[in-house]
Amino acid sequence: MPRILIALVLVAVTACSKQQPNTEPVTEVPSAAAAVDAARLLAAGDDWANWLSYGRTYSEQRYSPLKQVNADSVDKMGLAWSFDFNTERGIEATSLVIDGVMYTTGSWSIVHALDARTGEHLWTYDPEVDREKIKHGCCDAVNRGVAAWKGQIFVGVFDGRLVALDAATGEVNWSVATVDTELPYTITGAPRVIDGKVLIGNGGAEYGVRGFISAYDVDSGEVIWRFYTVPGNPELGFENDAMKMAAETWNGKWWELGGGGGTVWDAMAYDPELDLMYIGVGNGTPWNREIRSPGGGDNLFLSSIVALRPDTGEYVWHYQTTPGETWDYTATQHIILADMEIDGKTRKVLMQAPKNGFFYVVDRATGELISANNYTNVTWATHIDMETGRPVEAEGARYIDSPFVVTPSYLGGHNWHPMSFSPDTGLVYIPVLDFPAAYGQPEDFLYRPGTANTGVSGVVGSLPDSQAERDAMRPLMKGRLLAWDPRTQSEAWRVEHNGPWNGGTLATAGNLVFQGTADGKFAAFTADTGERLWDFATQTGVVAAPMTYEIDGEQYVSVAAGWGGAYALVFGEYVQAESMPNVSRVLTFKLGADGQLPDVDWQPNVVFSPPPRTATAEAEEAGFALYQDTCMGCHGLNAVSGLLIPDLRGSGLIHDADSWDKVVREGILASRGMASFADHLDREQSESIRAYIIREAHRGKEVQEARASVSAAR
Ligand code: HEC
Repeated sequence: MPRILIALVLVAVTACSKQQPNTEPVTEVPSAAAAVDAARLLAAGDDWANWLSYGRTYSEQRYSPLKQVNADSVDKMGLAWSFDFNTERGIEATSLVIDGVMYTTGSWSIVHALDARTGEHLWTYDPEVDREKIKHGCCDAVNRGVAAWKGQIFVGVFDGRLVALDAATGEVNWSVATVDTELPYTITGAPRVIDGKVLIGNGGAEYGVRGFISAYDVDSGEVIWRFYTVPGNPELGFENDAMKMAAETWNGKWWELGGGGGTVWDAMAYDPELDLMYIGVGNGTPWNREIRSPGGGDNLFLSSIVALRPDTGEYVWHYQTTPGETWDYTATQHIILADMEIDGKTRKVLMQAPKNGFFYVVDRATGELISANNYTNVTWATHIDMETGRPVEAEGARYIDSPFVVTPSYLGGHNWHPMSFSPDTGLVYIPVLDFPAAYGQPEDFLYRPGTANTGVSGVVGSLPDSQAERDAMRPLMKGRLLAWDPRTQSEAWRVEHNGPWNGGTLATAGNLVFQGTADGKFAAFTADTGERLWDFATQTGVVAAPMTYEIDGEQYVSVAAGWGGAYALVFGEYVQAESMPNVSRVLTFKLGADGQLPDVDWQPNVVFSPPPRTATAEAEEAGFALYQDTCMGCHGLNAVSGLLIPDLRGSGLIHDADSWDKVVREGILASRGMASFADHLDREQSESIRAYIIREAHRGKEVQEARASVSAAR
């Protein structure tokens, strides 16, 4: 069967084994692995050499005081070593480095420990996630990293487990299910540890879950507290007063539609002085509030920043960025804490650029909104009213009577890709994306547990039918590195990129900002002006955020490269135009190194050889609707895949109804991540999807031929 060949460079090359190993002993390394405790985490900002937790410090600034690599020296930086993950799915981790050892994660929540100086492999822990579970993941088999505490490494596993590993060996100390594993919960975020408690949330909102975050005892794995972000069925009573208060902002029977959503799938931060931790809360299930909470309501704590007591999980305050969210506007995006002078006073602030397109500066002691302004083009609201702290919505933005083109859309003006803050420049470096989408009311809505329930028609519905219109959309999908001044709520500078889905950022005292890009570059810019000083061809799109550390007086800059995530899966139409393969590796750089990567051999074009169209137009159309509902999230919008997963238009299986059905309904490829859809589709429906794919294969073939003749004529 013809299959897309994503030629893999699977040889575990450390590209620069040529690199001279440094023979000096690592100095001052505590004898125990991952010797991280409360005192060390609290002082992480002054620990220049290490990167002890996800955002480097509890304030999650992703700023390093290291400056050996700086605006003057960065052009001498080259590849010191690389480590191949041996997987072909998205890579989103920020690595930790603790006393010379790097702990990082690849796809499928696989943890690796490496010698941070050489890239030498120390151990790997594979939680052996059942690949079928991917059907509950909106956005690829990704993981954003680990947490460390007193000789243990903690990882949140895709299927909902939280696992404690012996940092020296990678052996499992304990493992607990943090979720009801019957439900479509997933974990992709990095745990954090505060004073002997491991904190972990989860994802899966549109698939039908009720969001929460829990704290586990580092030693025993016992749950200490759990905070739900949305109320349950009021008849069963409320867990606490916060839930009682939240329930007053809901209507209808949201608990029967999968539990309301509001998952805590990424951001956390902690202020030890105030003894407050902050979490970012996600979107509703379904996205459309008309369906979720008929009659309206703010629907707390969806799309909110919530402050909790880390000891007990007790609610302290919240700030809701998008009351009554109806656009998939999560507020799970990166939260940064900083102290800054505003109107002559030093304020303890919290900053967030959530999906909805506004940048918020909030007083983190009280939750009071200090300022807000849009950091990108916004069509759903005109501004944030500073009296009420609420957005002033644009007329029609709720798409109740007619469709509305919403910017930002469900991918957000900024997604999970971490931003960074430099206390030197006072700027926040945001990976911004532009991505408009038309939202409409569906004619009817049937809640289907375990599948993506948006309750919005058209939204991830379709690309325009005509190729010319599709091509015209491409320039609308843009991405940039934006330097934002949070005090003045205005742009300092920007660098436009080719495509929207770029990497997280790192700021350093060397007047540098580092970022990887969708088009396969890892680049350094001056932090004050955004001048591009250096880049390296990564052979793959980079979406994760870089980090930096020092060993024996040498500064290293490292990034986990590997194209993937929601945009990479769904927007094949645009991704294929840029054609980046997934080559998943840790790439680590330092001054004076000149390592090379082996060549990548991959075939970016889909090979079309469809059978004749024999089905009725009705069957093809029915197949289209089913495809967009059930298959699009992995195989790509309008049957054009992002090539991480086979483009069905090029599959040999479209020639044979029985073989097709064996994959689609009997699940013979389930162990490879292609679950059975027998629960959702009968044979006739699976056949109509095949008919639709055949139609699209013919269309794709024509487009490919037309493009080839245009380029031949040039
Ligand atoms: C959660 C992700 C996901 C969803 C949703 C999904 N697939 Fe797949 N599918 C995969 C993966 C991963 C593979 C590749 C498996 C492998 O490596 O062999 C695949 C492979 C296939 C193949 C085999 C292609 C080939 O030539 O090898 C077919 C056919 C297929 N899928 C059809 C469908 C249809 C039809 C739907 C919707 C009803 C669907 N898939 C939904 C992940 C998904």
